[in-house]
Amino acid sequence: EQIEKGGFEHFMLKEIYEQPRSVRDTLRGRLLPEQGLINMRGIDEYKEKFLNAQRIIIVGCGTSWHAGLVGEYLIEDIVRMPVEVEYASEFRYRNPIITEKDVVIAISQSGETADTLAAVKLAKSMGATIFGICNVVGSSIARETHAGAYTHAGPEIGVASTKAFTAQITVLALIALKLGYMKGSISESKYMRLLIELNSIPEKIEETLKCDPLTRYLAEIYKDSSNALYLGRGYNFPVALEGALKLKEISYIHAEGYPAAEMKHGPIALIDENMPVIVIAPKNDQYDKIYSNVQEVKARKGRVLAVVNHDDEDISSIADHIIEVPETENIYSPIINTIPLQLLSYHIALMRGCNVDQPRNLAKSVTVE
Ligand code: AGP
Repeated sequence: EQIEKGGFEHFMLKEIYEQPRSVRDTLRGRLLPEQGLINMRGIDEYKEKFLNAQRIIIVGCGTSWHAGLVGEYLIEDIVRMPVEVEYASEFRYRNPIITEKDVVIAISQSGETADTLAAVKLAKSMGATIFGICNVVGSSIARETHAGAYTHAGPEIGVASTKAFTAQITVLALIALKLGYMKGSISESKYMRLLIELNSIPEKIEETLKCDPLTRYLAEIYKDSSNALYLGRGYNFPVALEGALKLKEISYIHAEGYPAAEMKHGPIALIDENMPVIVIAPKNDQYDKIYSNVQEVKARKGRVLAVVNHDDEDISSIADHIIEVPETENIYSPIINTIPLQLLSYHIALMRGCNVDQPRNLAKSVTVE
């Protein structure tokens, strides 16, 4: 086991550190920026189904569902097609309306999650085209789908999903860019710019990982909290959900993720000096809005830990602590911003004496409905 951990203390940490490699492997052979090409056989084969779909439905559970939410932003933004994201675990209990004009994207690291498999089977029986995004080759979900694209993240052993999440978003970004180009919903110059930037993401992840010692230092400060609130807007709202899930799963601290704008509709009542608020605030169109949210938290004596870009000034000047990450295109910011949150949860859990790789009550793949 020590050998498998490759010198890291835990699988989770190893897997966090593998992300430059796992994202690179997920892009390899698919993203050809010099030629302006994205190779994805599964999309080519079902091109007509995708382009003529009345909507795309994404299903998954847990972290895979969070990746699906990022996928919703990506596809609606770039392809201009309606997308719905469903908890696979709820899907069949709502008597869903599915037709042969729907494309369902099923996301699952293990490819064995019973709820996701059941959702796939139901949608398939109703005539939808099913596309899988799985990590485990030959898994049940991969076999049940019409087509798909594997995330080449490599085996994920830690129960808390890390590298699978960033690889899933990478595949979703490839799908969105490929469909957007095919459909003509994105200009050639924007498409090229986004391909080039996607190619630089593994390097930016490497740079982001340098925040590890800082996250360890911050973990020391935040480790005794009983609650935490994670806030993000737009593409970074799912990052807030994922950050909160990581903290809950492995450190057993109660945490909630919210769209930052929803704070005033309820969660703001929770804020006092004991409530750490983790704000994901990269430089983008919503920056000013999220700056106001940070002011609101500070006015109520909340403690703010902000994930910001290098050279950030406004939020950095009022937050209690900041973690700086490299700037990227907004559509890829979830991949970068999620990394410090993974590290923060890891260090907090470790300091609280928790079993990081095998948290209580959880299984790596949930094969019961
Ligand atoms: C993530 O950290 C969790 N352990 C869990 O939510 C997981 O993402 C979920 O069970 C789905 O698993 P899957 O991707 O293998 O289908």
